[in-house]
Amino acid sequence: MNQSSADALPESLVVVSNRQPYSHEWTADPVEGAITTDDVAVTTATGGVTSALDPLMRSLGGTWVAWASGDADMAVADEGIVAVPPGEESYDLKRVPLSDEEIEGYYHGYANQVLWPLCHEESGRIWAKPTYWEQYRVVNERFAKAVRDVTDREDTVWFQDYHFALAPRRVRTARPDATLHHFWHIPWPAPTVFDHCPRGEAVLDGLLACDVIGFHTESDADHFRRCVEATLSDATVDLDDGVVRYEGTETRAVANPLGIDVAGIRSRAENADTGAVRRQLLGDTVPDPSIPVVVGVERLDYSKGIPERIAALDHLWERRPDLRGAFTYVQKASRTREGIADYRRYRQDVVAEMQRINERYGTDDWHPAVYTERRLSAETLAGLYRVADAALVTPHRDGMNLVAHEYPTACVDGDGALVLSELAGAATRLDGALTVNPHDIAEIADALERALELDERDRRDRLDRLQASIEALDSTNWVERQFRADSG
Ligand code: G6P
Repeated sequence: MNQSSADALPESLVVVSNRQPYSHEWTADPVEGAITTDDVAVTTATGGVTSALDPLMRSLGGTWVAWASGDADMAVADEGIVAVPPGEESYDLKRVPLSDEEIEGYYHGYANQVLWPLCHEESGRIWAKPTYWEQYRVVNERFAKAVRDVTDREDTVWFQDYHFALAPRRVRTARPDATLHHFWHIPWPAPTVFDHCPRGEAVLDGLLACDVIGFHTESDADHFRRCVEATLSDATVDLDDGVVRYEGTETRAVANPLGIDVAGIRSRAENADTGAVRRQLLGDTVPDPSIPVVVGVERLDYSKGIPERIAALDHLWERRPDLRGAFTYVQKASRTREGIADYRRYRQDVVAEMQRINERYGTDDWHPAVYTERRLSAETLAGLYRVADAALVTPHRDGMNLVAHEYPTACVDGDGALVLSELAGAATRLDGALTVNPHDIAEIADALERALELDERDRRDRLDRLQASIEALDSTNWVERQFRADSG
C-alpha cells in the first residue's frame, strides 16, 4: 500500500456485519471445565466481505462486531470477545448472541422478507409481520450497544449491509464526533419501488446518521438520494455532488464497486488439480468426464434466475440437437435462508427442473446437467471455474455479483467466456462479457451458443478485457475508495 492510499485509512476501525469472519465449532462433545484447542476448530468465512475486510483489520487492528452463530463461538470468548485470526491475534472479534425470537424477526423477518425482496424489486414477496420490525429494532440496538462499548469519541465505524439500517443512528446519538460509514451490498431500488417499504422513513433516518454510504453502482447511489428526497421532507439533497443534509449530518452517498482478492483466486486456480476437480464433480455422474463444462454457481435465492437458465438450456438443446452431448452444465448450488417458505419452494423448483431436463435429454453416453449442493473448498471452486469453458451468471437483480469476477479471474489458461445479466451490478463495470436480459430465455440460449462458438481471438480478447476490468476493482482498492470518499 503506498503512502497516499494509507493516509486515507483510519488508525483503527470497528467493523459491524451480520456474518462473522471466523467461527468456532466443536470438534467433539466439549469436555466439562477447561476448553482446549482440541475441542474447537476455527473456520474462516469465504464471502466477499471477509476477503475484503479481514486483511484490512489485520493491518489496522480494532474490533469486528458480528452475530455469534453457535455455542462454541461464545464458549471460547471472554465476555463475547476473542482475538483473531488464530495464531496472529491482530484484532478483536466481538460476538453478539441472538435468541431464536430475535433471529426469526430480524434475520428471517425484516432483513430477508422485507429489505431483501424490496431491494431486489420483488415487492410482491414482502411480508412484514409486526414482530419483524420490532426485532429488527431490538437487534440493531443490541449491535449499536456493542459498538458503543468498544468505541471512543472520534473512532471510525463501518457498518455492512441491509441488516444494519438503524444501528448508525443509535451510535451517532452517543458518539456525535465519530466517523460512521455504511456499505449497502445489495441494490437500492427506485423511489416507486421504495414506496413499498414498511417503515421506510425510519430506515432512511437510521442510515443518514452516517458520513458516507457506499453502493456498488452509480444508479444505486442515485436511487438512494432520490428516495431520501421523495420521503424525508426535512432532508436537503444535492443531486449533483451526492450530498444529503439531514439532522445536522452531511452524508455522502457514493458509488464504490466491490471487487475480489484477484491474486488469491488466481493462485488457487493455478494450483488446482483440474483432473481431480473433474473427477470429484463429474466422475460418478458423467460418462465422459473430459466433456466441456458450462458452470453456474449460486445460493438458492429467487433473485438468481436459475429456472430461466435451465429453460434456456432446454431451448438451446431443442433448437440445436447437434449441441446435445457437446457439453455438460454444472450447477453448484448452496442452500440458504431455509427458514423462509419462498426459499424452500425455490429449491424444490430448481431441483425438479434439473431432473426434468436430464430426463428429457439424457442418454447412456451423456448427462446434460449435474446438480450439486456439496460444500466446495475455495481451491475446488477455483478449479471448477478453471475447468469451465463458459459461465452463466444471470440474476434478475444483483448488487454486484462476485462470481462474475471470480470466474474470469480463475480462467488462467486464457480460455473462458462469461454470459452475464445486464441487471447485475457487475455488468456496469466489467468489459468483455456477453450480456443478456435475465428474463429473456431465448437471449440467454443465444448468448450461451455464442459463448461456446466464439473464435479463439474473440474469446481471448473478451477474457483479457474482463480480467483487466476485474483487476481494477480489486478489493484493496474498494477499501481505499470508501475512506477517500470521506474527505469529499
Ligand atoms: C449475499 C448478498 C450479501 C448478503 C448475503 C447474506 O451474499 O450479496 O449482501 O449480506 O447474501 O447472506 P446470508 O446467508 O447471510 O443471509
